[in-house]
Amino acid sequence: MPNTCKTVEIARGIYWVGVEDFNRRLFDSLIPLPYGTSYNAYLVKGQDKTALIDTVEGKFVDELVCKVNAVQDLASVDYLVTNHAEPDHAGSIGDVMRKMPRARLVLTTKAVKYIRKVHHVEESRMMVVKEGDSIDLGGKTLRFIEAPWVHWPETMFTFVPEDRVLFSCDFFGTHIASDLLYDDEVGDIVLPMAKKYYAEIMMPLLPMADKALEKAKVCRPVVIAPSHGPVHRHPDRVMTAYEKWIKGPLEKKAVIIYVSMFGSTEKLAQTIRATLSAEGVNAVPHNLLVADASEIASDLVDASAIVVGVPTMLGNPHPAAASALTLLKYLRPRAKCGAIVSSYGWSGGAVNIIRSQMDGLGINCVGTLEINGPPDEAEIAQAVELGKTIAATILKTKAPA
Ligand code: FEO
Repeated sequence: MPNTCKTVEIARGIYWVGVEDFNRRLFDSLIPLPYGTSYNAYLVKGQDKTALIDTVEGKFVDELVCKVNAVQDLASVDYLVTNHAEPDHAGSIGDVMRKMPRARLVLTTKAVKYIRKVHHVEESRMMVVKEGDSIDLGGKTLRFIEAPWVHWPETMFTFVPEDRVLFSCDFFGTHIASDLLYDDEVGDIVLPMAKKYYAEIMMPLLPMADKALEKAKVCRPVVIAPSHGPVHRHPDRVMTAYEKWIKGPLEKKAVIIYVSMFGSTEKLAQTIRATLSAEGVNAVPHNLLVADASEIASDLVDASAIVVGVPTMLGNPHPAAASALTLLKYLRPRAKCGAIVSSYGWSGGAVNIIRSQMDGLGINCVGTLEINGPPDEAEIAQAVELGKTIAATILKTKAPA
C-alpha cells in the first residue's frame, strides 16, 4: 500500500482517512498557512452499515479513495455525511458519490441547494437530517447536531455516542498539516494555531460559536475529530480554550494596528505602546505594512482595546488602515475600547472617518490625537496622556478573572 494510503483508527471502528496539504500557503485568500492544512475525513464502521464523514478538497480525491479502500471497499459504503458544504470538505463529494452507487448523502436542509448547484449531487440521493436525528449503523449511532454558522449556515456536527467521538467539522479545527495525527503529538503549536483558526472562522459570529460550544459540552466527547488539523484526544484543552475565547474575561491587552508614511504616526503609536506597557497593559503593535492578518486576528480574540494609527492621504485614511478597519468589521472582536492617532501633511481627515467606522462597530473611542507632521515634545506628551486614558479604561473595565 502506498504511504499516502495510511489510515489511523482513532476509536474502535472509526478511522481517519483524511489528507495532509503541506503545500497550501493561504486560506480564504487572506490567512497565511505556515504549516499548511489538512482535510480530515473519517470512516465509521458499524456492524451493519458504514458511513464516511466528509470528504476532502477535490484535487486530493484519489488519496481519499485509496484510504477508504484500505479499510473497506468504497463502493460498499452506505452513507456520506456532509457536515459542511465548503469545498475544502465537500469538494470531492460528486466524485465520491459516483464511486458509492448505493450511498445516501446525509446533510442539513440548508445544504441541499448549494450541494446540488456546486457539487452536482442529485436530490434523489440526499437524506436530509435535522437536530437530534440519528442513523443506526449497528452498534454505532450517528447523531446529528445542527451547528449553524460555525462556519456556514448549513454546518452540523456528527456525534457517535457509543465511543463519544465528536466530528466537529471546522469547530476546534487548526490549520496544521502533519504526519502526526493527535494534539499531544503535534505539541505546543496546536493551541496558538487553533486560536488563529478560531479568530478568523468563529469569532465573527460569536453567539453562534457559543451555542455550538454548549452543544459540544453536552456531548462530553473523549475524542474531538475536527475537519482540519490534529485530532483532539485531550478535548478538554481545546474546549477550555474556546470557552475562554468566546466568553472568558478579556485580557489587560491592547492591539495597536498602524501604518506610517514618514514615521510620524509610528512615533505616536509607539508612544502609546510604551505608555500602555508602563501602565501594566500588554500592548501588541502590528505594523500593517508587514503584518500577518492571522496574527492580528489572534491578538484581537482577547484584547480589551484597539488603537489605530493612521495617516491622512488626500483627505482619507491610508489604504492599509482602511483595509484593517474592513478586517475589524469582518472579525467583530470583543474589544469595546478604541483610540486613534494620526499625522497629516497638508490636511487631516482620517481620524473622523476611522472614528465613524469604530462607532459603527460599537467600539467606544476614548480619545484621538491628530497632529501635523512629526510630533513635537508637547504632542508626545499628549500621546502619553492618551495612552494613560486607554490604560485606565482597560484596567477599570477588566472583568474579574
Ligand atoms: Fe474548513 Fe469552512 O471549511
